[in-house]
Amino acid sequence: METLSGVLAIVRREFRTGLLVFACLCCGLAAHGQQPLRTLLVGVDRRPDVSLDGDWHYLVEQPPFGNLYRSDGRVRDDGYARNTHPNISSGPHNAEYDFATAPTLKVPGDWNTQDPTLFRFEGVVWYERDFDFQPRANTRTFLHIGAANYRSFVWVNQKRICEHEGGFTPFDCEATSALHPGSNFVVIAVDSTRHEDDIPSVNYDWFDYGGLTRDVSLVTVPMQFIDDYDVHLKREPSFSAVDSKTLTGYIHVEGSGAGTPVTLRIPGTGVDAQLTTDAEGRAEFEVKAAKLNLWSPESPNLYPVEVTAAGDRITDEIGFRDIRVDGTRILLNGNPIFLEGVNAHAEAPYRTGRVCTDEDVKNIFAFLKDLHANFVRLAHYPHDERMERMADRQGIMIWSEIPLWQRISFDKPDVYAKASAMLNEMIRRDRNKASVILWSVSNETPNNPVRTEFLTRLAGEARRLDGTRLITSALNSAHMKDGAMVLDDPLADALDVVGVNEYVGWYVGRPEDADNMHWVLPQKPVIFSEFGAEAKFGNHGAKDKRWTEEQQANVLEHQFVMLGKIPQLRGVTPWVLMDFRSPGRNIPGLQDGFNRKGLLSEKGEKKQAFRLVQKVYAEHAVGKAD
Ligand code: GCU
Repeated sequence: METLSGVLAIVRREFRTGLLVFACLCCGLAAHGQQPLRTLLVGVDRRPDVSLDGDWHYLVEQPPFGNLYRSDGRVRDDGYARNTHPNISSGPHNAEYDFATAPTLKVPGDWNTQDPTLFRFEGVVWYERDFDFQPRANTRTFLHIGAANYRSFVWVNQKRICEHEGGFTPFDCEATSALHPGSNFVVIAVDSTRHEDDIPSVNYDWFDYGGLTRDVSLVTVPMQFIDDYDVHLKREPSFSAVDSKTLTGYIHVEGSGAGTPVTLRIPGTGVDAQLTTDAEGRAEFEVKAAKLNLWSPESPNLYPVEVTAAGDRITDEIGFRDIRVDGTRILLNGNPIFLEGVNAHAEAPYRTGRVCTDEDVKNIFAFLKDLHANFVRLAHYPHDERMERMADRQGIMIWSEIPLWQRISFDKPDVYAKASAMLNEMIRRDRNKASVILWSVSNETPNNPVRTEFLTRLAGEARRLDGTRLITSALNSAHMKDGAMVLDDPLADALDVVGVNEYVGWYVGRPEDADNMHWVLPQKPVIFSEFGAEAKFGNHGAKDKRWTEEQQANVLEHQFVMLGKIPQLRGVTPWVLMDFRSPGRNIPGLQDGFNRKGLLSEKGEKKQAFRLVQKVYAEHAVGKAD
């Protein structure tokens, strides 16, 4: 039997070899036994929870962020994470900070639009919040974070429970062993500093809003719980409206082995299935519905889907539909479709800042409906889950994307691991959303072999993760050849649908150059995923006067002439629904820190371009589904 000093000697040696260092870096808890689970609870917005949204105290750290990182980059657990209080009137000198008397920020929300001194701040902001909690026996509790930009480190009662990288996808950290009855506190350090090997990398055309930008809550589940499920219409080799009543998928019960009973009930379809988990806690199924109304923009049918297992229960709302490619056509439930859409950033209408409220989402969808859009490209990162929920209900189809925007460190294996993690999180959160028809792995990346190998692999991973949706990417590598615009980017081979970004009439050439422009494109469905021009709302002039509403509308008019001639065109998404903040857009009086390619100003003011696109979509005047 090893003596204690013997054990300590081993630990020190392990430390030297870095094995335990990694584990400690991961969550600093290996030395304390049970490693808290960091997961992503599917359908978490359908679970009862204790919301921690509201006012959180905050402290700002300037580089080198000494309370978060040691000089060797490792994370400190003995800085602000301890949430100590200064001895003011008596007692020895101690740490000079105090969350309890610090100002507050609203969560969810970015810090940039809440505290004027933080408007352009990129760095570390510490958040702290006290909460009362009564742990229940035989349950596990997770801290759910909808999103935090960019890197976040989470402590509950001084115990580090998890960390996460990526500003636009959710994560759930197990807090069970850190919680105690009565008053508890959570401290979260969020670091929005940009780094070369981040995703996106250091340079991107949107504002680096930092903070706890989406909902935060406590979710309690039984010891064995449903953490992931997939319920979708079985993808038959060919689609037939009459036969398409088979639902398939899986339910995963975390913490359970083989033999755990699982029920799947879908009222209104006659589905009431008794399933059993395998050794991995997974219950796969294929069940026939007696009756099934498929989801489409015209009839966005959603069904309550009730899943129970091991004392856990979750009821989601899911639509069932079939989306596939047939040659150069996109078929929804067997019918050819044309996508009349627009790009949208997660910039809150009227108030600016990150979209994070029901109100924000309601406003955006009001604009989409007013535009007669049936499709929206959520640029360039996964948006708040409210967007997908609303799209499911309102029958708007979605292009969802991970932020591999232009230059990414494609030659770095750990960057691939990050991209893969973001892809997995995006697909896991939204795989049951009927509105999401396209997963995009990147935007405007340089056409070279290292990038193509990286993204082809990522596209393959997306297809393995979800074989029921279409894989795409926005390419801007088209070039003039023999008088034609040729897109011969090898990445297109890995895609089901090809996105094309071009700015003829704004960044290149004159608006009218589009009229006679001939495109040579892959024999696949093509979506022109970006085109447009900048205009300041209310700035008027001749239609060839740049920055005017007239010129912007003129560019789009010529674009629609050009696009209407492209046989494999199956969708259009002008850049962009609303003006949005971007640090590189600094022409005073015209841009003032905003990208002005919106069809609407950031205040929701309609530019002439909005009315033009509205009319084109009302008359279905551009493109053909077949
Ligand atoms: C690019 C890019 C967008 C950007 C737009 C623009 O194509 O994908 O993110 O905002 O062009 O320059 O306005």
